[in-house]
Parts: sequence; structure tokens; C-alpha cells
Amino acid sequence: MAFTIAIDGPAAAGKGTISRAVAEHFGFAHLDTGLLYRAVGRKMLDGTAPIEAAQSLVAEDLENPTLRSPEVAQAASKVAVIPEVRAALVDFQRAFARRAGGAVLDGRDIGTVICPEAEAKLFVTASAEVRARRRHLELAEKDADVDFDTVLADVRERDERDMNRADAPLKPADDAVTIDTTDLDIDSAVRAAINAITARK
Ligand code: C5P
Repeated sequence: MAFTIAIDGPAAAGKGTISRAVAEHFGFAHLDTGLLYRAVGRKMLDGTAPIEAAQSLVAEDLENPTLRSPEVAQAASKVAVIPEVRAALVDFQRAFARRAGGAVLDGRDIGTVICPEAEAKLFVTASAEVRARRRHLELAEKDADVDFDTVLADVRERDERDMNRADAPLKPADDAVTIDTTDLDIDSAVRAAINAITARK
């Protein structure tokens, strides 16, 4: 039986960690939809036109090790404003969402545009400062040489672009449960997510 869990929210709010834990808890497959936009952004940086890149995306493109870099994140949010890029990625996401055995998709527009009929919807958020601090720590662990103010500016710029684009802007679905992780540790955030989803099952 298909059961779709949609998890949306801004950059570095904890969506990825929560989505992986939720998928493991329920035994569902997980799709990080940000990777699709990052893969298109990567191809744009390498010289391919974004629409063409989105239309010809293949599974191996999602395995490029540079997809996690801040440069690719910015490119992703730039290609994500292009309606034809978004349209090219819809069918793959919807097919994944309805796979037998259940699916967790995390992104910006899963509960609003990709899977408005999802059985459970979460909107995971946190203050921009806390999100930038988490992302900065993550990058420092990978030895990336970036300062906190640059990361904060990057998070704010992406939020701004993601919330204000005309096509599929970042916003909570009307029926989403919001989880603010500003003052939550990982375990508490995961527990809150699992409780909210269990209430819908
Ligand atoms: O989640 P992540 O930081 O990997 O996403 C990178 C960018 O991809 C976001 O800033 C956003 O512009 C775009 N994105 C989107 N819709 C999604 C997932 C990501 O527009 N469902």
C-alpha cells in the first residue's frame, strides 16, 4: 500500500536528518528532492542549459560528490525558479511518492505541489541563525573553509529566493504540521515528527 510522507522546509532546518530517521522508523523509501535540483545546478555550472539538464537527468547525476557544496546549493536555487526545470522533475517525484511500501520525500514543495494528497505532511523549520550554525558546523567537519557570516548570508539568500519565486514557492501546506527545531535536539525533533505522522496513520 502506498503511503506518502511529505517533509518541506527551508535549508538546514533538519529535514534531511528527520526524513532519514522517519523513513527508517516506518521502513519507507526516502527521496531527498533537493538533490535533483542540485544535480541540475551542477550541470548548469558545467555549461549545460538548465532545462536541457533537467530533461536529461539520470540516476548517476545524483551521485556527484560535489552536490553538497554551497556553490552548488546556490546554483540549485537559481535553476529551481525555472518552471520548465520544475516540470521536468515532477513525474519522477510523483512515481517515487506512490511506490508500494511507502515513501518519504523531503524538499520545498512536496506537500503543496508534488504530493498535495500526501497522507502526512510536515513543515520543518528553525531560525536562520540556528540553521546557519548547523550548516557551518557540517561544512567545518568536512574541512570546508567558510566563515559563519558567509553561511548565514547564503542561507538567507536561498530562503528569500525559495519563498518568493512564482512557481512552487516554499511555504507550509494548509494541512502540514509545523515542527520548529530551533530549540530541539535531533532526538526530540525526530520524536516529534514520528508522533505527528503516527497520528495520521
Ligand atoms: O534541500 P536542498 O538544500 O538540497 O535544496 C537545494 C535547492 O533546491 C533549494 O534551495 C531549492 O531552491 C531547490 N529545491 C526546490 N524544491 C525542492 C527541493 C529543493 O526548489 N522540492
